[in-house]
Amino acid sequence: MKSLRSSEWYSGDDRNAYIHRAWMRRGLPGDFHHRPQIAIANTASDLTPCNSHLDEVAQSVKNGIYEAGGIPLELPVVSLGETQVRPTAMLWRNMAAMATEEMLRANPIDGVVLLGGCDKTIPALLMAAASVDIPAVVVPGGPMITGHFRGEALGCGTDVWRLSEEVRAGELSEQLFLRSESAMIRSRGHCNTMGTASTMALVAEALGTVLPGLAGTPAPDSRLLEGAQETGRLAVQLVAQDRRPSTVLTRASFHNAIVALAAIGGSTNAVVHLLAIAGRLGINLTVDDFDRIGAEVPLLVNLQPAGRYLMDDLYRAGGFHAVLREVRDLLDPDALTITGKPLVDYLDDAKIWDADVITPREQPLLPAAGISVLRGSLAPGGAIIKPAAASPHLLKHRGQAVVFDSIEDFHARIDDPELDIDENSVMILRGCGPMGYPGMPEVSNMPLPKKLLEQGVRDMVRICDGRMSGTAYGTVILHVTPEAAAGGPLARVHTGDWINLDVRNRRLDVEVPADEMEARGVNEATVKGFANPRRGWERLYVDHVMQADTGADLDFLVGSSGSKVSRESH
Ligand code: FES
Ligand code: MG
Repeated sequence: MKSLRSSEWYSGDDRNAYIHRAWMRRGLPGDFHHRPQIAIANTASDLTPCNSHLDEVAQSVKNGIYEAGGIPLELPVVSLGETQVRPTAMLWRNMAAMATEEMLRANPIDGVVLLGGCDKTIPALLMAAASVDIPAVVVPGGPMITGHFRGEALGCGTDVWRLSEEVRAGELSEQLFLRSESAMIRSRGHCNTMGTASTMALVAEALGTVLPGLAGTPAPDSRLLEGAQETGRLAVQLVAQDRRPSTVLTRASFHNAIVALAAIGGSTNAVVHLLAIAGRLGINLTVDDFDRIGAEVPLLVNLQPAGRYLMDDLYRAGGFHAVLREVRDLLDPDALTITGKPLVDYLDDAKIWDADVITPREQPLLPAAGISVLRGSLAPGGAIIKPAAASPHLLKHRGQAVVFDSIEDFHARIDDPELDIDENSVMILRGCGPMGYPGMPEVSNMPLPKKLLEQGVRDMVRICDGRMSGTAYGTVILHVTPEAAAGGPLARVHTGDWINLDVRNRRLDVEVPADEMEARGVNEATVKGFANPRRGWERLYVDHVMQADTGADLDFLVGSSGSKVSRESH
């Protein structure tokens, strides 16, 4: 076994080794400095309600680390609560990743257990671990159990969108809507729909970074703590075997993640997160890989927002492995998990117990469910759509643009009875990309105009350079690249232009001749209005953020610096 990284701090008889050891003695076993030092990167926070139970999970991880002879060291890291943080949690994903990476590198740590849950937390932790490249394993905090209202299951997020549209359509009273608020969040854990948190937990397991079988375990389930303890023991072994992100994660791992993403009907946000993680590892993953690998994969999981059930049901119905087993032939058999064994080796005993929740391969919910990547004169760098969450009749559509320059502009005008819009219009919202907002918020699933909702219209084509909540649905084209604020064609579109969407042929075009588009010039308000912060993180972010098609990471964070620290502190 090679010597521990932490021994660069702790071994020796010199003054510096004395200092490093002396201050750490309080409460630790006397021989602590000879044992593997395992950090627990903990995103627990009262302001991230989805992760607030992770302190208890951390205790189980600690027990496992001690059992295996390691020293657990809790490291609170930047946490992001999707529902609280303004203007959008995505603005700080890269900051959370950078801060975690730097603290893992700066400290005498040999390996790390990553505790995440709410949307951005697992992606940020994996980006950090990839860039510092020490042995790392994820414990997903797990989804909450199902809440009910008026006898029906309530899906986090998805039912907020649905019920609020019902209020606007005059089908639900405001009182009942508000009463549903206290029933939405029934327990600890993250959103129970197939939103971004559920998606990233399962995708992290498909990548191989989670103890096999653990992802999707509901947060209040005792098996989560059991798995956390086992993960603690595993983390100590990882150090002994020097199994690092760069040795576990390969192109094959990302292949499996993309297959899984399609089969579960996962969040579109996984595209930017996986691209960013791959970028840290130097793996050449492109947005087109999602279409090429995932587009023909069947949808097998009947969960909101694409379907009906919730995460608790998925677990009861056989869990993630039962899904993977159905698409085993599409998985790369060489991709390893953190245990050293291939992912496919864990699927033999998996079984579907409720075929209404997990559908067998022969009767999929949809025959082809992956994300489609569109290109054309409106999105030269690509845009994405999740057909599983869209209306089939709108997947080929020609309509006239109604353009909004910002989310504020949208809110100010959308319910104006005079607004010239009908169900065939194409709603365009710009200025919501990584640079433009800044932070690429989840605003792309614009609510429909009240007057059309009252007429019974429930979906329209919407186009935006921002993201969409993983819990949302509709015929929404997202991540348009380049974004308006970066001078993309979206900044030159006018209300009334004809827009052509053809998902089958992967096209998104504006019917305006190229020379006329060029001559138009960009809308300055959209380009400069919000993307010009004076100082601080926002300034750094706007100056360095990359476009969605490369994961919206900061340009100087791509790649890895490894775990070496150049100099002593004293
Ligand atoms: Fe945290 Fe949905 S708000 S997972
Ligand atoms: Mg979200």
